[in-house]
Amino acid sequence: MTENDLEKLLETLTLEEKVGQLIQLSGDFFTDDTALAVGPQRKLGIDPAMVGLAGSVLNVVGAEKTHEIQASYLAKSRHKIPLLFMADIIYGCKTIFPIPLGFSSSWDPALVNQCYRMTAREARAMGVHVSFAPALDLARDARWGRCLESTGEDPWLQSQYARAVVTGLQESGDLAHEGIASCIKHFAGYGAVESGREYNTVNMGERHLREMYFPPFRAAVNAGCELVMPSFNVIDDVPSTANTWLLKDVLRDEWGFDGVIISDYAAIRELVTHGVASDDAGAAESALEAGVDIDMKTACYANNLCRLVRMGKVSEELVDRACLRVLRLKNKLGLFEDPYRDTSRDVESACCLTTENRALARRMAEESLVLLENKADILPLDKATLRNVALIGPYAENHDLLGLWAVHGDASDAPTLGTALREVLGDRMTCAQGCPILVDESGLGSFGHRSVSSEEKTKEELARLREEALDAARSADVVIVALGEHPLQSGEAGSKTDLRLPQIQRDLLHDVHALGKSVIVLVFSGRPPVLTDIREDCDALIEAWFPGTEGARAVSDVLFGRVNPSARITMSFPYATGQEPLYYNAFTTGRPQKTSTHTERFTSRYVDCPTDPLYPFGYGLSYHHCRYGELRLSTQKLSPEGELTASLSVRNTSSRAGDEVVQLYIRDVTGSVVRPMKELKGFRRIHLEPGEECLVTFTITERMLRFWRRDMSFGSEPGAFELMVGRNSSDVQVARFELLETR
Ligand code: BGC
Repeated sequence: MTENDLEKLLETLTLEEKVGQLIQLSGDFFTDDTALAVGPQRKLGIDPAMVGLAGSVLNVVGAEKTHEIQASYLAKSRHKIPLLFMADIIYGCKTIFPIPLGFSSSWDPALVNQCYRMTAREARAMGVHVSFAPALDLARDARWGRCLESTGEDPWLQSQYARAVVTGLQESGDLAHEGIASCIKHFAGYGAVESGREYNTVNMGERHLREMYFPPFRAAVNAGCELVMPSFNVIDDVPSTANTWLLKDVLRDEWGFDGVIISDYAAIRELVTHGVASDDAGAAESALEAGVDIDMKTACYANNLCRLVRMGKVSEELVDRACLRVLRLKNKLGLFEDPYRDTSRDVESACCLTTENRALARRMAEESLVLLENKADILPLDKATLRNVALIGPYAENHDLLGLWAVHGDASDAPTLGTALREVLGDRMTCAQGCPILVDESGLGSFGHRSVSSEEKTKEELARLREEALDAARSADVVIVALGEHPLQSGEAGSKTDLRLPQIQRDLLHDVHALGKSVIVLVFSGRPPVLTDIREDCDALIEAWFPGTEGARAVSDVLFGRVNPSARITMSFPYATGQEPLYYNAFTTGRPQKTSTHTERFTSRYVDCPTDPLYPFGYGLSYHHCRYGELRLSTQKLSPEGELTASLSVRNTSSRAGDEVVQLYIRDVTGSVVRPMKELKGFRRIHLEPGEECLVTFTITERMLRFWRRDMSFGSEPGAFELMVGRNSSDVQVARFELLETR
């Protein structure tokens, strides 16, 4: 349809029909079974007359189901405007790859892009039109469970991933024929909830928002994302869902975003709970006025907008504009031509969980596994000489490797570690659980269809599990201990105040280590856990995240050296929970611990814990070893229109080929406002054969040095800069240069 056709269609709609387009309900509202439909209707308190007009569906996935709902809806609809199906397809649809915090450790946006293309094909085949991804919340506080969904603590790196995901999902941009639409979220500042507690207050100045939290969103808008979801939190004491400055002034007017804004789940109604609206009508009015087009899962728009327009409290033009945006999106997706977008059961089974998709997920997982420790180069294991391996721990024979947000994936499609290792070792392996993930799951709460186990083990059972594992360890030459968080301990509403692994697992590891065997620890988690004591009790340590459908095989590839690990963490790992929020691109303070002239007592530090992280941003080991040559600059004076080249040689000094991630950081030494100690400005992922040397160069221009200055203009300031290149954010060489004044 042309824009003109859409406008004409809009003119033919009644006010109720227009408002209907602005309502999103879950699948249970669209069933033909009256009993079922009445239940959710009552629960939501929604006007039954509006239910039949609702224009979009939440989290119904599957060719058959979506087809059925669409067909029965269209049969009853006067205008035959097809339904939009939106779903949380966060890191894979049926074939699940590692959680975003995991895949970001690959420093490989091109591979991430391929994974999202694959995901879009699967989701499209399953009848999905829009995915609520990517989550672009900068994550600097590991207590916050949703750091699982983030690509880490750095805005520049996250912007690279934002582009990779959006263009992956939306493929060529021709959404009628390829891909699905991307809804970026949660705009904005959500990762900075106070004390890491989910849905909590965010307190942050505009400069910091613009400097650190906005860039990934801006990058995604520039990459053409079709939708934006505001966050649950407040910005300057106004919830994002009603925040006119955020949604209108910044997103629409300054950035030129003209796509659909959809509220987060029940967020419009929560304006009343927040205390900025006295009732649902007030909430509807302020959300629409701020620019929210679709109301997800509340009755606020449905029950109030028509009345508010008729009373003259809300202008009909606002409803028209929102409705037109929704119609445009439906049109872009090709729904008016084919409401089913060519989906069928056959297409679905031909597209999903294919051998190629599994192979891609395995590659992504291989690139996401971070080798944190490898004392005396104990890894990789030589499968030829191993006589007996003990695989113990609660993740030894566990399918639950998908993480919390893989809501449409199936854990039974993921082989367990035991299965993957048996493929290599055959019967030279003994498996034992050792202990449950948690002794008591009761505080976790349920999430969707996931619920906690009510079965608690007796003391005797726990002792038996432990003894079995220790027996297996005693007769093994190597012990692999698979530990981790419960999947419900991270993801949405998975905030924690203690980032250590559960005590029962730490005790098990301690006892295994005391046997004097070689111990390799694998950690499965949705965040950077505290591994301070774990690393003392092992010879090698791998952060495996929740690695997805092929995660177990990827772990096996790394353990036995078929793959040389190359991942580098994108969130700092703390020594202790009390260090959070902890991130590398922080300010020095006036009294930095290492360089202050004050006595140690009066510096910015803890009296009971290091200030630095246990593992810094950008850190990760590989099986090869590299020597970094001397860092050289082409000039020490950069003119605003010129370029500066930083170069250094990197040589693989080992007999193993591998990938190295060479990282570039810059610090603006003096500015009109305080600048971070260092900021990532680029990286090169290079492949080096044994003995090979490569010259790595970075080009620096004035554009890369811009920031939000004291007067809130965006630009650079002349003066001294430090340029740092190295293998992670703390192991760097430093050179200085000066940015000259504009002539
Ligand atoms: C989450 C969103 C998600 C939505 C729909 C909310 O609770 O915050 O990230 O997209 O639910 O499932």
